Amino acid sequence: MKLKVAENILSLKPYTPGKPIEELEREYGISGSIKLASNENPLGPSPKAVEAMQAALSNLHRYPDGSGYYLVNKLAEKLGVSAEQIVLGNGSDDVIGMLTRVYLTAGDEAVMTSPSFLMYEIFVRTVDAIPVMVPLKDLAIDLDAMAGAVSEKTKIIFITNPNNPTGYHITTSEFNAFMAKLPPRVVVVVDEAYIEFARDQHCLNGLNEIEDGRPIAVLRTFSKAYGLAGIRIGYGVMPAEMAAMANRVRQPFNTNILAQAGAAAALDDELFLKQTLELIHSELAFMQAELKKMGVECFDSQANFFLIDVKQNAGKVFEKMLRQGVIVRSMVSYGYPEYIRITIGTRAENVRFLKALETVLK
Ligand SMILES: Cc1ncc(COP(=O)(O)O)c(C=O)c1O
Repeated sequence: MKLKVAENILSLKPYTPGKPIEELEREYGISGSIKLASNENPLGPSPKAVEAMQAALSNLHRYPDGSGYYLVNKLAEKLGVSAEQIVLGNGSDDVIGMLTRVYLTAGDEAVMTSPSFLMYEIFVRTVDAIPVMVPLKDLAIDLDAMAGAVSEKTKIIFITNPNNPTGYHITTSEFNAFMAKLPPRVVVVVDEAYIEFARDQHCLNGLNEIEDGRPIAVLRTFSKAYGLAGIRIGYGVMPAEMAAMANRVRQPFNTNILAQAGAAAALDDELFLKQTLELIHSELAFMQAELKKMGVECFDSQANFFLIDVKQNAGKVFEKMLRQGVIVRSMVSYGYPEYIRITIGTRAENVRFLKALETVLK
């Protein structure tokens, strides 16, 4: 077939998801493996969400509510914003796509860190705009360099807080100093996929910064702390004027009936969220203490994952861990050839990870 495809689409590196666990187990001849690779919730989905989704099953012959009325209003009340400021997405990924379609045209620039969450670049290139990558400095977001990378053509800046894959965060005062340097026409997307896990009281909470006239869009998701990655639901909070534009390019039925029901119930499941955060915080401390005893360098994190320096080829360590039935994420393709990212699991999973790593590094 000789179909003509635009250059910007040809330049896209396709997102390469990991293979299903069952397939990996078959390939490697292992069983009972554990996945600590995608920053998912080790406790599973919120039980209240599961119950609400089960109750919604009998309505699957209907289209979902295109406005997500109940979920949007519940979110607005919980977050102290107006319903007009909220945009629902089929995962927060979907909201990134809407914002790029609204604010970027061919030749515009979008500033982001390198490395950063892969979907920013994919969406930016899809509309023939140009990703401008600003390297991290000692694993932290270099806000001065990001402000310095803004040109006449810049329309969007992406900031991930806490950041993926580092787990590092930025503070409110750092953010406000950065905002003061930007021309007011630039949309600042603050991706807070991991914000619930942040412990530092100075950590930026983007919702407090959306005020009159500031073009800030905060992205949040039910995929991490709420344990609903598989049902795909997230949202953006932004000034009402921006939300109205994003809603123009949103597919009307982008969030499905189960996702809307599950997310609304998950918001009420405060016990589940509390248990999740307690587990992540205590297991992060446990894992890092054990790794230090083993002499492995770990980096601090405000998220549900952290980086370690294995001081050898991370791709090879990843392979060897896989043979032990432990799936982690090698940072080779992120530009850190000797780092591995580990998602925090249950105690049993974490102990298994530690044992496997000890064997592999020996
Ligand atoms: C920084 C960041 N943003 C967004 C997402 C996507 O979240 P969702 O599942 O809501 O699309 C992820 C998922 O890994 C992420 O790491």
